[in-house]
Amino acid sequence: MIPESFIQDLLARVDIVDLVDSYVPLKKAGANYAACCPFHNEKSPSFTVSPTKQFYHCFGCGAHGTAIGFVMEYQGIGFVDAVKELASRVGMTVPDSGDFSPEKHGQTRNLVEIMSRAAAWYKEQLRRSDKAIAYCKKRGLSGEIAARYGMGYAPDGWNGLKSIFPDYDSDELKLAGLVIDNDSGRRYDRFRDRLMIPIINPKGDIIAFGGRIIDQGEPKYLNSPETPLFEKGRELFGLPQARQAMRETNTAIVTEGYMDVIALAQNGVGNAVATLGTATTPTHVQKLLRQVDRIVFCFDGDNAGRKAAWRALENALEALADNKQIGFVFLPAEHDPDSFIREHGKAEFDRQVTQAMPLSDFLLRELAQRCDLTSSEGKAKLIYEAKPLLLKLPTPLLRLQLVKRLAEASGFAQQEVERLCELKSYAPAAPPKAKRSAPSLTRNLLRIILHKPLLAAQLPGELLPDTPERPALLRLQELVRAGNGSQGYAALREQLRGLPEEQIIEAAASELLGLPFDEEEAEAEFRATVEKLQEGGQMRQFAELQVKAQQFGVAGLSAAEKQAYIQFLSTRGNRS
Ligand code: UTP
Ligand code: MN
Repeated sequence: MIPESFIQDLLARVDIVDLVDSYVPLKKAGANYAACCPFHNEKSPSFTVSPTKQFYHCFGCGAHGTAIGFVMEYQGIGFVDAVKELASRVGMTVPDSGDFSPEKHGQTRNLVEIMSRAAAWYKEQLRRSDKAIAYCKKRGLSGEIAARYGMGYAPDGWNGLKSIFPDYDSDELKLAGLVIDNDSGRRYDRFRDRLMIPIINPKGDIIAFGGRIIDQGEPKYLNSPETPLFEKGRELFGLPQARQAMRETNTAIVTEGYMDVIALAQNGVGNAVATLGTATTPTHVQKLLRQVDRIVFCFDGDNAGRKAAWRALENALEALADNKQIGFVFLPAEHDPDSFIREHGKAEFDRQVTQAMPLSDFLLRELAQRCDLTSSEGKAKLIYEAKPLLLKLPTPLLRLQLVKRLAEASGFAQQEVERLCELKSYAPAAPPKAKRSAPSLTRNLLRIILHKPLLAAQLPGELLPDTPERPALLRLQELVRAGNGSQGYAALREQLRGLPEEQIIEAAASELLGLPFDEEEAEAEFRATVEKLQEGGQMRQFAELQVKAQQFGVAGLSAAEKQAYIQFLSTRGNRS
């Protein structure tokens, strides 16, 4: 756990306008700044950054958060990493606590430094090796593309890295995966006589290498082992380089190999990434779908490629949403994306991507091939095989489409398919709970408090009517009473992560973007709104007493109730 106070100090130190502007150029728009949203594809800017409240909000896609949230979303990294990143940006040191010890943090930084030194050396060696340069040329790669992917060459020889790491025997070099100790304790370079391809995370750190043998040999690719920097199933090769093209096309192409990505880029297709010798994981899909609305898997045309496509489908299901699309390109058996684009060119490759087979078609085609649909057994098997896949799908609309087509193919009725697969049949969401009273008053209070959080301490909790804003107001009051109000909305926002009140508070905060009210105005409006609430509370109490008095007579009221009732009657009389 990173201490809350550190998060607050960090948010106070970082300016979200500078931060966002360094990724997405911002333009002043009234009191705020605006840009085209980096999180979805749009033509006119609906992405807004508030310099006073230190948060961003997109009116198009609903993306919303603080500086920390922005780094998490933009780089596709977790909370702790985003905090580290921001802290290093403003020269703060994340304090020691739990699994986030400075020791570990320091170690990670050292490893990153080691990897980048090694990469620089490999690059230099590539420049000096005619053999490696010739190999790149043979594969159609330009110097420009080699530079874009940071490619290098690990020369033949056992201890090449000694020349740049005088402490060649250090534990860290081993931890970085760059050297191997043999049984008799002798140390040697892991990568020898290989074309070196660095794997770079979204932050820009080199976290691993893939080394391809020059021409023939085994293994064809040698990869870094998993290290504290590198976890295979999470990372995608080529992601930082693909980001821009992914945004422009709103599509990510997923391939199997390093060289596929590099060859596609060489031929003008910049939005490709590759899994790293592993199957596509749900994490991969999630990461990509945060940045684009469409993923196209383009694997090798051989049998292994087709199997990999099916694995990708199975793992993509749970990360899918009804507004996202997944497609599959099946290349001719003798091709991989690299050889295909080199032989047929960009236009033909683009056509393949545009015409990719939709996930639903692939799913049905594949299942149908496994079952003999002319027999009852085959039709039963179709539903049996479809069940686990349907259950993974979180998309009600696509699921319904598939159920209908499965029903058709199997001869079951739609409801039977739903029942057999134990799917909850689709019911439209219940209409929102009727708001009993004064929704606008509590909404207004929420906005005022997000504008000036310290006011939450003065909220009369017992007077708040049961509107959707009530839990949010009480939550903010709790946070402010615990001493968190002085730093404004952004600091509070970070403490709401994962709480049920998060959404309504975001929505109310976004409404603030159009309202330029100042501190004093906020206080006056707060008092006026609380007064109205008090009045409303009294009116409700009066109405209840009146009903009771009419039913049982004034004698039916307790002494205190009687007194209150009489007072109401007299003040009402005074007013009218
Ligand atoms: P492929 O064998 O399809 O290689 O492996 P490729 O991409 O076509 O490579 P080239 O064109 O012959 O150079 C696909 C991916 O599987 C992993 C690598 O990530 C590779 O890019 N792989 C393959 C390994 O990790 N080790 C291997 O020995 C082979
Ligand atoms: Mn290949």
